[in-house]
Amino acid sequence: MKLVIRPDAESTARTAAHLVAQAIAGRGGAGVLGFATGRTMERIYRALVGRHEAGTLDFAAVRSFNLDEYVGLPTADPRSYHSYMRQHLFGRVNLASDHVHVPDGMAADLAAESRRYEAAISAAGGIDLQVLGLGETGHIGFNEPLSSFASRTRAVTLTPRTRRQNAAMFGGELDRVPPRAITMGVATILEARRLLLIVTGAAKAEILARAVEGPLTASVPATALHLHPDVLVLADEAAASALSHRDAYASIARHDPEIAELPA
Ligand code: GLP
Repeated sequence: MKLVIRPDAESTARTAAHLVAQAIAGRGGAGVLGFATGRTMERIYRALVGRHEAGTLDFAAVRSFNLDEYVGLPTADPRSYHSYMRQHLFGRVNLASDHVHVPDGMAADLAAESRRYEAAISAAGGIDLQVLGLGETGHIGFNEPLSSFASRTRAVTLTPRTRRQNAAMFGGELDRVPPRAITMGVATILEARRLLLIVTGAAKAEILARAVEGPLTASVPATALHLHPDVLVLADEAAASALSHRDAYASIARHDPEIAELPA
């Protein structure tokens, strides 16, 4: 795992957009991307849209797979992750509609939908770069504490803390946030060729420190990222404020050729 610290959320998003663009270019334009949702990602999608509008990023051959979706929200519901992705990215770049994949939280048979989703990822040849955010509970995707590190795409129950974290989209009321979701599993995520975890803001400082510097534990699902050989963590100063090994990260920033060359 390599940890990269940027001064603020905007600079973090620019670096993240560069890495996404690199993953697309690395496949001759036909990269397979794993996308995440949440407020942290909004800046990154803005940066990607900016590159597309400037004519430097073409999504025509890109295929994408989102991590998760609420159970019971129709795709047209403005609070669904289908809508989120249309609003922030899919509706603003030239990603073909048959190239984008988001789990169907309205499926009558969620186990069958989960199997279908896994098969679609395999049929695409796997994910080149999976972008991840970090939940306050330490979740990646919607893999809440005690999610098995061997878990695959499946329906899960959200913790009250996560529902509270995401309540803004639901009139601020926890009870209006769907209690269930369908998410790629921890093992599904770990199969992507490269992982990019992006964490910004002081509210994430404590959980980021537990996720990257704490012991491997199912109580903090993001610690499973240590089982993957190619993980980049991008954090802004606010989110990095509780980390212990700052001198090590500063040294990587100066001497690791890939990290030193990343745009800030
Ligand atoms: C939701 C998503 C997660 C994401 C998290 C972070 O819970 N399911 O994949 O990591 O939001 O949210 P935010 O960026 O708003 O803090």
